[in-house]
Amino acid sequence: MNVLVIGMGYVGTTLSLVLAKSGHQVTGLDLDLQKVSALNQGNIYFHEPGLQELLDELTSTDRLSFTTDVQKSIHDNDVVFICVGTPSNEDGSANLQYIKSAATMIGENINDYKVVIIKSTVPVGTNETFESWIQEANTTEFKVDVVSNPEFLREGNALYDSLNPDRVVIGSSSERATAIVKQLYYDVDCPILVTSRKGAELIKYTANAFLALKISFINEIAKLCDTIGVNIQDISNGIGTDHRIGSHFLNASLGYGGSCFPKDVSALLSTAAKYNVPLNIMKEVVAVNQIQPKYLLSQIKQQLGNLTNKKMALLGLSFKPHTDDIRESPALRMIDLLAKEQAIIHVHDPVVKLSSNKINQFNTPEEAAENADAIVICTEWPQYKQLPWGEIKRKMNIPYIFDGRNMLDSKQLKQIGFRYRGIGYS
Ligand code: UDX
Repeated sequence: MNVLVIGMGYVGTTLSLVLAKSGHQVTGLDLDLQKVSALNQGNIYFHEPGLQELLDELTSTDRLSFTTDVQKSIHDNDVVFICVGTPSNEDGSANLQYIKSAATMIGENINDYKVVIIKSTVPVGTNETFESWIQEANTTEFKVDVVSNPEFLREGNALYDSLNPDRVVIGSSSERATAIVKQLYYDVDCPILVTSRKGAELIKYTANAFLALKISFINEIAKLCDTIGVNIQDISNGIGTDHRIGSHFLNASLGYGGSCFPKDVSALLSTAAKYNVPLNIMKEVVAVNQIQPKYLLSQIKQQLGNLTNKKMALLGLSFKPHTDDIRESPALRMIDLLAKEQAIIHVHDPVVKLSSNKINQFNTPEEAAENADAIVICTEWPQYKQLPWGEIKRKMNIPYIFDGRNMLDSKQLKQIGFRYRGIGYS
């Protein structure tokens, strides 16, 4: 099939590559010439495992190209995916400006029947509105069917999740369009759930809200664990083995971040408020998440006292490992909190380069930790497990580790002589 993907962020780029790998003829459209040029030159311009190798493999096939040409790309393709961003407005609602301009572009350039598939996370009812925006700009008799097909990709695992989805959700009111979308996914081995468009939109928000809820829930229990001296990992294992609960998303941490959970939970709350349905649990999920970095700071202060001019080595800046994305990263909250305490902040991250006058960034964790009064782990980059901890300890001023991701082997570190504290885990 000939497919156009609009929006070359990590979702749109991954989708373009995966559809081309499946044999479809794919055009990736973005108005940002820099992104398009990078991709046309064969470079993935962001950090996402496996994509560069897949792009290298696909360059010899002629099944994939990237463009800024709106008219030609819409004329040449009858299936159009929308993967543009839906950032938060100041009041927490989703900002639909990019969605609206995609609808106008399609309406103005329509030259045949099109199936438009919205992958972007959009509030309930947006698929319907999107169709009316297209029709407002459409001066021809050609028809469009708009289908909701939310993505469930984790950053850092986007390629794996695309090739091994748990489910494909199709929200559609047209049998013709549903059949076309099913053909696109001919090679995936998972349940395909067909529902209404509003149903599909709400599934996406509810999935992210539920995962955020699991994290805030375990983070609250972790505080109880800290107080009564129980290890939170034992609790996570003990409840996670119950299939009704499931073991995922029960890692206590200094909070969730990223481009999805914070934004999508706010947007769900905003939708619920619009319909006058209070989602009290989700309000608490947000509140708990906002407290987490402050909670870690209080643990640090409890051990180290006043932090003025204390040297803190903060390891990890991205909101999770295997990505260079720092949107809503708890590490940035931690930097702000430590800066307010007038600590000296040394940071390391394997891929993120942060420009900020609050920090000094080092090329290695060892350098960042030299003469430090404490190490604060903010992102669970796997390489931090393998560091020469004995050597690092010898060069530190005070050998404290505050593990905001509960990722390190506390027993081993204590044997070396570190003083270790995790979240609900000491
Ligand atoms: C999420 C959803 O998982 C994905 O399905 C959706 O399409 C987009 O949003 P992503 O934001 O990439 O994906 O990351 P995810 O792996 O879900 O982690 C989100 C945040 O929660 C990260 O900051 C992570 O560190 C944190 N987290 C995750 C925890 O603190 N504890 C956990 O147990 C799991």
